[in-house]
Amino acid sequence: MNSLIEKFQQAGQGQVFAFFEELAPEEQRRLLTEAAEIDLEEVARLTRTLLGASAAAGVELTGLAPAPYIKRPEHGGDASGWARAKAVGEAALRAGRVAAFTVAGGQGTRLGFDGPKGTFRVTPVKAKPLFQVFAEKLRAAGTRYGRPLHWFIMTSHANHAATEAFFEENNHFGFDRGRVHFFRQGRMPAVDFAGKILLETKGSVALSPDGHGGSLRALARSGSLDLMAREGIETLSYFQVDNPLVRCIDPAFIGWHLEHRSEMSSKMVTKAYAEEKVGHFCTQGGRTVVIEYSDLPLERQRETDATGGLRYLAGSIAIHLLDREFVRRMAVGASGAEGATLPFHRADKKIPTIDAQGRTVKPEKPNGVKFELFVFDAIPFARNPVIIETLRADDFSPVKNATGLDSPATCRDDQLRQFARWLRANGVAVATDATGLPAMTFEVSPLFGYDGDSFAESWRKLTPAPAICDGHYLA
Ligand code: UD1
Repeated sequence: MNSLIEKFQQAGQGQVFAFFEELAPEEQRRLLTEAAEIDLEEVARLTRTLLGASAAAGVELTGLAPAPYIKRPEHGGDASGWARAKAVGEAALRAGRVAAFTVAGGQGTRLGFDGPKGTFRVTPVKAKPLFQVFAEKLRAAGTRYGRPLHWFIMTSHANHAATEAFFEENNHFGFDRGRVHFFRQGRMPAVDFAGKILLETKGSVALSPDGHGGSLRALARSGSLDLMAREGIETLSYFQVDNPLVRCIDPAFIGWHLEHRSEMSSKMVTKAYAEEKVGHFCTQGGRTVVIEYSDLPLERQRETDATGGLRYLAGSIAIHLLDREFVRRMAVGASGAEGATLPFHRADKKIPTIDAQGRTVKPEKPNGVKFELFVFDAIPFARNPVIIETLRADDFSPVKNATGLDSPATCRDDQLRQFARWLRANGVAVATDATGLPAMTFEVSPLFGYDGDSFAESWRKLTPAPAICDGHYLA
């Protein structure tokens, strides 16, 4: 018998090959390839630690306190410190020591959009897809600092080919194709509540992406870290595919990170309301940690301090800077060698599978567990982690849901508010409502301006300044 099948049987996972004899030769080959990807020891360990009777009851919350962060100048932070940080970051950009990194392997189920999320159209006039917005911001920053940027994009098995094809069809949105690097994240098998690996069909395992925390090992495995080293790139600017407002390249953030010799830095915003669904920056036992909203009891989320403000105020918007060699160290740990290891999280899900007779099962309630790694779990392992404050309006308006909060509609309005603020800052009168939303719909190309500074530089060069009207596209 095939030795891999034997290994699965010895590990009590023989059900993976229950229908093997019925499969056509190429289906058998495919199943064997999938099975070879699975680390049976890891699955056994996770079953023991996350599913078994001794599984820890939730996240440890003792000794938790709010994490300190660097305040923005408008909120009492040190303006000269921010100016110095910006200069340090700009110098690193001019020296080509920074690259961009987008995690785009998620399944986008909440949005209900079929296709890689980065292909979703978000801008108010041109309906540019998310990937185009990032590509243009990065191109513009590269031009501004005289060093074209490298851009790493992590995909999943499910969306890799479609993502690459989309870039190909769109001529990489003007990006130098030799500087866009796609790589797939790893996969983990889903298991039932007894730890048995689930099949999706007779010839395929129920495999799903290993979470954005899988990006650390995928960066190493794909050779991206080696490429960075060859190119003299030390810092990765990490952001999620769902947030077109993100400052993909933020010199002050980079500067704070470098000045503190931090290995992993993060941006926070003050939470909009107590129950906002974001991670919380905290300290615990002298280390910085992020506690997901789902792990922090509601009464803690609502706790106030002496001034009546929220005690756990610092929300994570999933924007980080990563030191290259720190990623390498974490990646080694994740593959089982000595060193730091990211913990897996358990998510109970409805997992389409087959029963013992091979019939399709579409469960109505969770029937099993997926295992995921979260990138922010690396922060406690980082030397000198830095958290800086950012303004939500300038960095965060994700598209997560089809309607309501964090939807295409709220994101479109936030883009319009930002464009209006940039115009106003340059002396243009723009009629807006009380929330800053302009009455007219217009759009600023990232190639014209991707942040307040770059917009002002381009605007100053326009003589005479154009009259912006409904439907205007400033490029
Ligand atoms: C995430 C964060 C939350 C943060 C919020 C900000 C987690 C668990 N929570 O929530 O702390 O406040 O964003 O918007 O991450 N991705 C992959 N591979 C995967 C899974 C996800 O690349 O296997 C990517 C997605 O493509 C996306 C990003 O990671 O770019 C976020 O994933 P998602 O699962 O949507 O996170 P949220 O639950 O919204």
